[in-house]
Amino acid sequence: MIDQIHFILNDRTVDTSQPPGVTVLDYLRQGERLTGTKEGCKEGGCGACTVLLGELQGEKLVYKPLLSCLLPLGELSGKHLVTIEGLNRKQLSPIQQAFVDFGATQCGFCTPGIVMSLTGYLLSTETDIDEAGIKTALHNNLCRCTGYGAIKRAASALVQSLLDDGGFHNLETCIDKGIIPEYFRHISDRLHQLSQLITETQNNKVSPQFTVAGGTDLYVEQADILAESSIRFLNQSPQMKRISIDGNSIRIGALTTFADLANHPAIINLIPDIQAYIQRIASVLIRQRATVGGNIITASPIGDVCVMLLALNANLLLQAGDNIRNVPLRDFFQGYKKTGKKPGEILTEIIISLPSAATKFNFEKVSKRQYLDCAAVNSAIAIRFAGDTIQEFSISMGGVAPIPLFLKQTSNYLIGKQITPKNIAGAFPILQGEISPISDIHGSARYKRLLARQLLIAHFTKLFSEFINLKDFYETN
Ligand SMILES: Cc1cc2nc3c(=O)[nH]c(=O)nc-3n(C[C@H](O)[C@H](O)[C@H](O)COP(=O)(O)OP(=O)(O)OC[C@H]3O[C@@H](n4cnc5c(N)ncnc54)[C@H](O)[C@@H]3O)c2cc1C
Ligand code: FES
Ligand code: FES
Repeated sequence: MIDQIHFILNDRTVDTSQPPGVTVLDYLRQGERLTGTKEGCKEGGCGACTVLLGELQGEKLVYKPLLSCLLPLGELSGKHLVTIEGLNRKQLSPIQQAFVDFGATQCGFCTPGIVMSLTGYLLSTETDIDEAGIKTALHNNLCRCTGYGAIKRAASALVQSLLDDGGFHNLETCIDKGIIPEYFRHISDRLHQLSQLITETQNNKVSPQFTVAGGTDLYVEQADILAESSIRFLNQSPQMKRISIDGNSIRIGALTTFADLANHPAIINLIPDIQAYIQRIASVLIRQRATVGGNIITASPIGDVCVMLLALNANLLLQAGDNIRNVPLRDFFQGYKKTGKKPGEILTEIIISLPSAATKFNFEKVSKRQYLDCAAVNSAIAIRFAGDTIQEFSISMGGVAPIPLFLKQTSNYLIGKQITPKNIAGAFPILQGEISPISDIHGSARYKRLLARQLLIAHFTKLFSEFINLKDFYETN
């Protein structure tokens, strides 16, 4: 029997037996002929395919902008999918009008995605809107022809006029101000009714061909295969989304998204600069979907979260049926994109022992673009010290080996040493002996060796400017 997927598409209730693994983008354009949602890169990089997804969280209806090229149809079950066609009213919305007034559209290919991102921002912001927020909301949207000046001017004017007109926005005020149509008023009740039709059939697949968490890696690589495969959607397991403190440990559910990781008080306590680090990873919309567990299981040699967790000596809980095993992350990676995960196992939690208060953490990432780019080399350290002496030290690095690497020898070498330029420089040959970078699109092997050295210096100059100065290395090494 084929499972039906029940959801609301704009103002229409839909029951479909289309395969749950098909992307929402393909479903909309090919199945529904709703071609306002554009197909650009199909890799999560351009924002042309942005849609809104609304879901009930308790009694509250919450909307998020999402990239439909990386979103499986099966995840729409019980939710409200909004496309650009679903925003249409007789008159232009204030967002559309601002784009007309400021000439912020030329070929128009990017415009639907931008309007969806802006609408999503106005619907979801919990505090008052502001210009910085609206610019962040557009991080994921590329325009190839108009230039960003006109788009920014339209967005700024929009914020100003909405602020002049009373400020804070939520669903009701967005309807009253014509940002979204009237039918949104009844969506909450309709979703409640829909929830009675929905059964938990998707998760009961006996042996699915694919397991999907956020889909931000799988759908870039294998969207066509996924469309025809049986899938287990992990997102239907809310218990895997929690972060909690358990005695002396932090337990991070494997489905925790990058955005949720960056905003959790326990993580901010552990890694005070986590928000700045996470901003260097992917884009706003990807961070809302990409999960910590997905980053680990993908085992990319440049996985940013993997590199952070290696320095923190995280442990993994892997579960198959009733069997649960605990594996140190440092023993998990076995080769290029190969891990010790056994067939059928699910990564459920990541556990970090809370370090002492005297431990500092730092993460560095070098990429060609500052935002929305993969690392050439990335690195993290966790360091406990007393005065100027290193008592515990862990350094990890990505982009310098087939796997995200814990640099055991370099770490051990520095333990017990004083934080001096001479001692840091003493670690250089050990570091170079532990890494084996290759030349690829992110840079040559030689360049990555240079970056490895520079990032070791950067960790110390950033955390210990009282002991270490960048100049020390240029003058003496
Ligand atoms: C535009 C773009 C930019 C990106 N930028 C970055 C970046 O800057 N830094 C970075 O590190 N990554 C980046 N990524 C990669 C990607 O977002 C991350 O690797 C992400 O963490 C993958 O998580 P996911 O939940 O989307 O995984 P999915 O795509 O759902 O799954 C990936 C793999 O992990 C498996 N899997 C996922 N969760 C589990 C689990 N709990 N148990 C068992 N198996 C599981 C899946 O079966 C699949 O094999 C980017 C991706 C895109 C599209
Ligand atoms: S088509 Fe480019 S992000 Fe989806
Ligand atoms: S107006 Fe042409 S891509 Fe933006």
